[in-house]
Amino acid sequence: QLPKRVQIKEVGPRDGLQNEIMFIPTDAKIKLINQLSDTGLNYIEVTSFVHPKWIPQLADAAEVLKEIKRNTDITYAALVPNSKGLERALDAHVDEVSVFMSASEGHNKSNINKSIDETFPVLKEVVDGALAAGKRVRGYISTVISCPYDGYTKPEQVVYVAERLFDMGITEISLGDTIGVGVPTQVDALLQEMLHHFKAEQLAMHFHDTRGTALANVMTSLANGITKFDSAFGGLGGCPYAKGASGNVATEDLLYLLHEMGIETGVNLKKIQQTALSIERIIGKNLSSKLAAIARGE
Ligand code: HMG
Ligand code: MG
Repeated sequence: QLPKRVQIKEVGPRDGLQNEIMFIPTDAKIKLINQLSDTGLNYIEVTSFVHPKWIPQLADAAEVLKEIKRNTDITYAALVPNSKGLERALDAHVDEVSVFMSASEGHNKSNINKSIDETFPVLKEVVDGALAAGKRVRGYISTVISCPYDGYTKPEQVVYVAERLFDMGITEISLGDTIGVGVPTQVDALLQEMLHHFKAEQLAMHFHDTRGTALANVMTSLANGITKFDSAFGGLGGCPYAKGASGNVATEDLLYLLHEMGIETGVNLKKIQQTALSIERIIGKNLSSKLAAIARGE
């Protein structure tokens, strides 16, 4: 039985724009986020307070977060890797903090320059600081199906990382198929294992659509009771520190699937399509999203 309602967490402004070769001008970012704020979304991951040398595309994080027009019904979140990032994010009045690490050593090292066990104390400091400032904290676990450096990830390894993150006081963990290799049988095996330890409400799924399997994996997740999904308008996205990673599942494609099955999201599909066309105009190329192609009249 499918859920009646699903929450969409729009990560395009962060996961999408971190991976575009072109630096999107700060004003354009702010306009896009304001446009997203008018679509019925209640959660937007706005930017990232990682080291600007590592992700120059989001070096304007503070300005973007400070200048967007806020809607009080929306949670405006940002990615934070360490205490230095938390300080910057709090100063820019972030609503919710997202910490992140990988289930595999290879990607963790490449992405945040530490081993898995060295990462926990760094994130604990962020979580403690964020909670003390009255902010909720979400956690990402990357490479939950497979790692571009280490190969397949064992579900038990994801449980190991998740247990430690939840122990810190994180409210929700988003499971990332960072390089978009997963298929439904693998997602099912992962979720069966996770759901022995955690409740479906504590989990969100974060699918990249590199091989066109994201919506199939969404279906498998819905069948396992998952009701929160990350997606990016236009199908933007990817991790520069995971070779071959490409876009997140497109928000508009996900909305089409959910709405046609009678699952409510509260998000206006047409308005998301328009936002996808806006970013296509800015970057001067068409994105992979199917519903954006339809909006272009193709
Ligand atoms: P490091 O070089 O090991 O950092 O990088 P460090 O702690 O050794 O510090 C070195 C210098 O950087 C110091 O300055 C710090 O102050 C400064 P110095 O004293 O030498 O002058 N510094 C900072 N400055 C500004 N903001 C900060 C910050 N931190 C340190 N936050 C670090 C470690 C984690 C910072 C670096 O590796 C990094 O920024 N990595 C981010 C990589 C990234 O953003 N990847 C993409 C996001 S993850 C993703 O996309 C996956 C996801 O979508 C889920 C999925 O799909 O699976 C979430
Ligand atoms: Mg991602």
